[in-house]
Amino acid sequence: MKQIFNFSAGPAVLPKAVLQRAQAEMLDWHGSGMSVMEMSHRGKEFTSILEKTEADFRTLLNIPRQYKVLFLQGGAIAENAIIPLNLLNGKSADYVVTGAWSKRSVEDARAYGDIRIAASSESTGFTEVPAFESWQLNKDAAYVHICTNETINGVEFAGNQDLVLPDTHGVPIVADMSSHILSRKIDVTRYGVIYGGAQKNIGPAGLCIVVVHEDLLNQASALTPAVFSWKTQAENQSMINTPPTYSIYIAGLVFEWLLAQGGVAAIEQQNIAKANLLYNYLDSSDFYYNNIQVANRSRMNIPFRLRNEQLNDAFLKGAEAQGLLQLKGHRMVGGMRASIYNAMPIEGVKALIAYMTDFAQQHG
Ligand SMILES: Cc1ncc(COP(=O)(O)O)c(C=O)c1O
Repeated sequence: MKQIFNFSAGPAVLPKAVLQRAQAEMLDWHGSGMSVMEMSHRGKEFTSILEKTEADFRTLLNIPRQYKVLFLQGGAIAENAIIPLNLLNGKSADYVVTGAWSKRSVEDARAYGDIRIAASSESTGFTEVPAFESWQLNKDAAYVHICTNETINGVEFAGNQDLVLPDTHGVPIVADMSSHILSRKIDVTRYGVIYGGAQKNIGPAGLCIVVVHEDLLNQASALTPAVFSWKTQAENQSMINTPPTYSIYIAGLVFEWLLAQGGVAAIEQQNIAKANLLYNYLDSSDFYYNNIQVANRSRMNIPFRLRNEQLNDAFLKGAEAQGLLQLKGHRMVGGMRASIYNAMPIEGVKALIAYMTDFAQQHG
């Protein structure tokens, strides 16, 4: 079979070993005689899956016990409404707009209260995170919302070690980490809430993981639906409704795989190597380019353009013929985008660069 590398932004490539294990366990999970899809979410089998999944996730991100881990549905877009419902409590909130996803968060949250834009890089075409000195933060805000990796624009908060964050004077930071969670080490204690849809570095779509400090569980609006109340879900092990059991199971397999790779610190080194390879190639090329400020270039989602955009269709067609799939940029920005999540091996990036080199030689 031809080697395929899938550069989709999400739902995205999963580790082959995980898919093979799911295949092997599909009809009969651990001698239970049932597929995970057929199990009661309250039965002992699924309970053990959920507990192990949460424990491994906590280990991977070193999550202190003061934080609750919730396995919810609705995806990150639902959280755009769920966050103000759970946190605003009559106050205002500050949002920092660094790309299409944080812009969408503002639009969705506005229905629920006083949502202020503290900073925006829209005037640059979303090529950077605005300098912290320019953020107009309100010390009485309920929270500061950021998207630490903008999947569509390819903009990530800077930081070689941990992500660099501004001083918010005690106002909790709420971070959409959908597209880079588990790709790098983070210090969870610097956030009030971390959330992410699963369909990139975690597992299949249908699951949204929310990590929330327990001090933030008592300020929800009375209008918050029970399934979206973090407090209610925290008190019920995310089981006030039927959780997305199969997505949770696959997430658990991905976490086991990640631990076996050496955890987040080890995968981060691989992610740095993969991203450097592609950015170095782009910067050395006069055929392709990426225009994101170097410090804010995403390690996970790398948009790039051909200088001659008339060649876009030929580029994509040729890539597909080589088994390099889903390289088309998001319809909002055009061009190309290579998403190189944890499960993308470095061989995939090398194959992409080899193809890009050939294509440039033929058409340059
Ligand atoms: C950073 C970010 N936030 C939010 C979303 C929306 O996620 P969902 O469609 O799962 O609600 C995405 C989806 O790609 C994303 O990348």
